[in-house]
Amino acid sequence: MKKKRTLADIKLSIMRRLRPWPFSIGVTSLWPGTILAYAPDRYSENLPKYQREPGLRSSIDPRSFYAGNRTNNCGDSVRLNFLSLTCDQLIKEGVRGSIAELGVYKGNTAFLFAQLARFFDTTAYLLDTYEGFPSEDLVGEAKLSHNFSDTSLESVRSLVGEKNVSFIKGRFPGTATAIPDAERFCLVNLDCDLYAPFSAALQYFYPRLLPGGFLIMHDYSSLHWPLVEKAVDEFFADKPERPILIPDKSGTAVVRKTVS
Ligand SMILES: C[S@@+](CC[C@H](N)C(=O)[O-])C[C@H]1O[C@@H](n2cnc3c(N)ncnc32)[C@H](O)[C@@H]1O
Repeated sequence: MKKKRTLADIKLSIMRRLRPWPFSIGVTSLWPGTILAYAPDRYSENLPKYQREPGLRSSIDPRSFYAGNRTNNCGDSVRLNFLSLTCDQLIKEGVRGSIAELGVYKGNTAFLFAQLARFFDTTAYLLDTYEGFPSEDLVGEAKLSHNFSDTSLESVRSLVGEKNVSFIKGRFPGTATAIPDAERFCLVNLDCDLYAPFSAALQYFYPRLLPGGFLIMHDYSSLHWPLVEKAVDEFFADKPERPILIPDKSGTAVVRKTVS
C-alpha cells in the first residue's frame, strides 16, 4: 500500500529540490569573499530524523547566536554548526560534566553552553569581566579597535537565562577561585583573545577536562590574534594532543582530551 505523505515529507522534498538551485545555475557567492554553503544534513534535510534523537539543536533558538552581534556572527554558520555538533557528540557518548567559557561578551555562544548544562543538569561557568578587556592584560597585543566593553552582566543574563548557570564576573585567572575545585569539564570554550588569560586558562582547565572532553580555542588560526596561536602552541608542545583546525570565520582550534 502507498505510504501517505506527511507535511514533513512534502517540506523535505521541496527543500531537496531548492537547496542545490543556486549552485546548479552557477551562483556560488552572494557577496565578494563569501561562498554559499550547505548546512549539515542533520540540521537541514534530515532534521525530522534528527529531532527524534536527543540533540541540542532542537531546543535552541539560533537567533541567540547573532543577537546584538550580527556583523560578526550572522555569516558564521560554520561556528554555530561546529558547536552544535560538539554538544550532540557529548550527549551521544554520555561524556557528562560541567562546562566553562572564558570570554562571554554578549552571550552569543554561552546560550548554547547553558542549554547543554541544562541537558546534563550540570553547571555552565561563564567567566568574563562583562566590561571588556582588562587593561592589565593588554601587553604585547596590537592596537585594538574594539575592547568588547559594549555589554553587561544583566544583558547576558537575560539572553542566556539563569538555570544551571554560574556567572563569574571579574578578571581571570583571579576569578578561578569561584569555581569549586572538584569540578570536571566536558566542554571548555576559550575565547578571551589575549595571551595572559589564554595561557592561564589552558593551565587551569586542561587538567580538569574529562577524557573525551572538548577544549575549544577560538581565534587560533585567524591571524588577528597571533598571541593566542602562540599560547596554544606553547601549551600543547609537550601534550599528547594536537590542535585540529575548524574552518569557521575566526579560526577555532579544538582538542579532545585523551586521558585524565
Ligand atoms: C571575543 S569576546 C568573547 C565572544 C563570545 N565568546 C562570543 O562568541 O560571542 C572576548 C571576551 O574576553 C573577555 N576577556 C578578555 N580577557 C579577560 C580576562 N582576563 N578575564 C575575564 N574576561 C576577559 C572580554 O571581556 C571579552 O568579553
